[in-house]
Amino acid sequence: MTSTFRHISFLILFFFLCKISFATDPHSFSIPENAIVNKLFLDIKVDFSSKIIRGKAKWIIQKTDTATTIHFDTKNLIIEKVTIDESELPWKFSFGRSDEILGHELIIPLQKQTTVVTIYYSTTPESAACQWLDPNQTAGKKLPFMFTQCEAILARTLLPCQDSPGIRFTYEANVQVPENMLALMSAENPQAKNETGKYHFNMSNPIPSYLIALAVGDIEFKPIGERTGVYAEPSVVEKAAWEFADMQKMLDAAEKLYGAYQWGRYDVLVLPPSFPFGGMENPRLTFATPTVLTGDRSLVSLIAHEMAHSWSGNLVTNATWNDFWLNEGFTDYFERRITEALYGKSFVDMEAVLGMQSLQQTIADFDSTPALQCLKLNLSGMDPDEGASDIAYEKGYSFLKMMETNVGRDEWDAFLLKYFSSHAFQTMTTEQFESYLRTELLSKHPGLEKKIHLHQWLYEPGLPDNVVIPVSERFNAVDDAEKKFIEGANPKSLRVAAWTTQEWLRFINEFPTDLSFEKMVALDSVFHFSKSNNSEIEDAWFLQSLIHNYAPAYPYIKTFLINVGRRKFLTPLYEEMMKSEEGKKLAMVIYKEARINYHYVSRETIDSIIEWKQP
Ligand code: BES
Ligand code: ZN
Repeated sequence: MTSTFRHISFLILFFFLCKISFATDPHSFSIPENAIVNKLFLDIKVDFSSKIIRGKAKWIIQKTDTATTIHFDTKNLIIEKVTIDESELPWKFSFGRSDEILGHELIIPLQKQTTVVTIYYSTTPESAACQWLDPNQTAGKKLPFMFTQCEAILARTLLPCQDSPGIRFTYEANVQVPENMLALMSAENPQAKNETGKYHFNMSNPIPSYLIALAVGDIEFKPIGERTGVYAEPSVVEKAAWEFADMQKMLDAAEKLYGAYQWGRYDVLVLPPSFPFGGMENPRLTFATPTVLTGDRSLVSLIAHEMAHSWSGNLVTNATWNDFWLNEGFTDYFERRITEALYGKSFVDMEAVLGMQSLQQTIADFDSTPALQCLKLNLSGMDPDEGASDIAYEKGYSFLKMMETNVGRDEWDAFLLKYFSSHAFQTMTTEQFESYLRTELLSKHPGLEKKIHLHQWLYEPGLPDNVVIPVSERFNAVDDAEKKFIEGANPKSLRVAAWTTQEWLRFINEFPTDLSFEKMVALDSVFHFSKSNNSEIEDAWFLQSLIHNYAPAYPYIKTFLINVGRRKFLTPLYEEMMKSEEGKKLAMVIYKEARINYHYVSRETIDSIIEWKQP
C-alpha cells in the first residue's frame, strides 16, 4: 500500500467513524466531526478566599487532516491564554456562538500537526457547577467546603471542555488546595490528607465531561468492603459507614446481574445538605446527600441507583440529553434489581408503586406538553434539565419492566448483559438501542413485536396499555391502617411498629384532602412527623401540612428549607406555598434566608417557581 493510499483510506475510515459515532448534540458547540479531545491534563488551584479555581486545562486532541479549528464549550469562565503543542507563546483564540443556556463557543485555530491545546483559565463566582460553602454551612463548622455538580451541562462552567455526553476522554489532574483539606475527584482518590495540600488524580477510563467532579473539604475516609468505602466530614463518617454497610453486597449483586464492575473502587462521598441532588454517579466516587442518613438504612436504594449508573450511564452513555432515559430509566430498573436481590420483592414493590404514582402525576402535569411525555426527547433550545423528569426515570423503568415481563427474566438479563458489555465506553441513542433490540431480541421471537408496542413506548406520549402496574401488599396493609384512622381509630392503635420509610410515605401521601386539623394534630402528637429526622418523611408531611394549613408545622418547614438544598424536596413545598397569598408570604420569608444555602441548580428552579427577583 502506498503511503498516500494508506493516508486516504485512513481519512475515509475516520470520516466514516465520525459519521456513526457522533449524534448531533444540540447542547454543545463542539464539532466532533472535525476535532475531538482525547485526554485532559488539568492543573488547578482551589482558592477559598476568592471562591475561584484557576489553572490550565491541557487537552490532547485528535483531528481530521482538514480541520482548521477546534471548538470548546465555556460558560462564565475567564480565558486568560491559549497555547498549542509545546510552545509557551500565546496562541490565537476567539469566541464564536453564544447562548444564554449554552454559554460561549471558544474557537481555537489549529495547525496541521497540532495535537495539544492548553487553555489557561479561571472560574468566576458565577461558575454554576461549583458551590462554595462557608464553615457554618458544614457539619464541622470549622472549615469551608466546595463541591461541583456537572451534569447535565455545567462542566463548561468548571473548565473549557467539549461538554457533550458523546465525547469521552481520560484525565489526570493536579489539584492544589489549602493544606488542612482533602481533595477528591471522580478518579483514583487519596484516603487521607497530606501535608502539602497537593493531590494527584488519574481517571484511566474514558468518561464524558459531565462526569468530572471535584470536592474539597475537611473530609475523612472509612472503608466498608474490599473495594468500597465512604468519605464524609469527620462528624458524619461513622454514621455514613453504618448506613451504607451493604455497599459491598450491592456491588457483588450488581456484578452478578450485568457483568464485572469496570471502575476499580466504588466509594461514596457524603456532602453537606446543600447538595442539590440525592446522588450523582461520579465515576469511582458517588456524591450523595446526607438526607439519606436516616439511621435505619431505609433509603439506601439511592446507593444502588448511583452504583447502577456505573453500567447504565457511565459505561453506556446517553449520546445526547435527548436520550436521557437510556441513563436514568435503565438505572432505575437496575437499581430495583439490586435492591430486590438484597431486600426482597416486597421492598421493590413499594418503591415501584411510589414510582408509578409519581409517574402518573408527571404525565398529568405535562398534559399541555405531550412532547415531554416521550422517552425520546427533543430539547433543542431548552435547558436539558427540563428533560430530567419522571418520564426518563419511571416511564423508562416501566418500559424495561414491560420487556422483562414479556421476554422472561432470564432472557432479558442475558440481553442486558450483552448490551452493556458490547457497548462499554460507548454512547447510545434511542434509535441505536431500538435497532439493537430488534436484531438481538425481536428477530428471534416472532410475535413479540406485536405485544410490546415499541414505537409507542419510545416515541409517543402517555403510557401504553401494556404497562405493568405494580402492586404492593405491604401498602395494602398501610391503606387499611389509614382507613381505620380516618374512620376514627386512635393513631396509637395502628400497627406501625414494622413500618419503614416507604410505608410512612404511602401513609402520608394518601391523606384525604379533607383531613381535619384535629386529625393532623393527633397524628403529629403520636408520630412526631414535624420533628422527624427522616427527610423523606419530613418532606411528605410538610407538603400535607401546607395543603391542610397545619400551621404548627410551619416553623419546622422553615428550618428544613433553610438546612436542606436537595431540589426534589424543595420544589413541591415552594410550589404548594405559591398557591395561596398567605403561602406566598411564607415562601418569600423562608427563601430570603434559605437561598444562600442552595446550589445553582436548586436556585434556578426555585427562583422560577416563586418568581424571585434579586433584591
Ligand atoms: N444522574 C442523576 C442526577 C442528575 C440528573 C443530575 C440530571 C443532573 C441532571 C442521579 O443519578 C439521580 O438520578 N439522582 C436521583 C436519585 C434517585 C433517583 C435515587 C436524585 O438525585 O434524586
Ligand atoms: Zn440517576
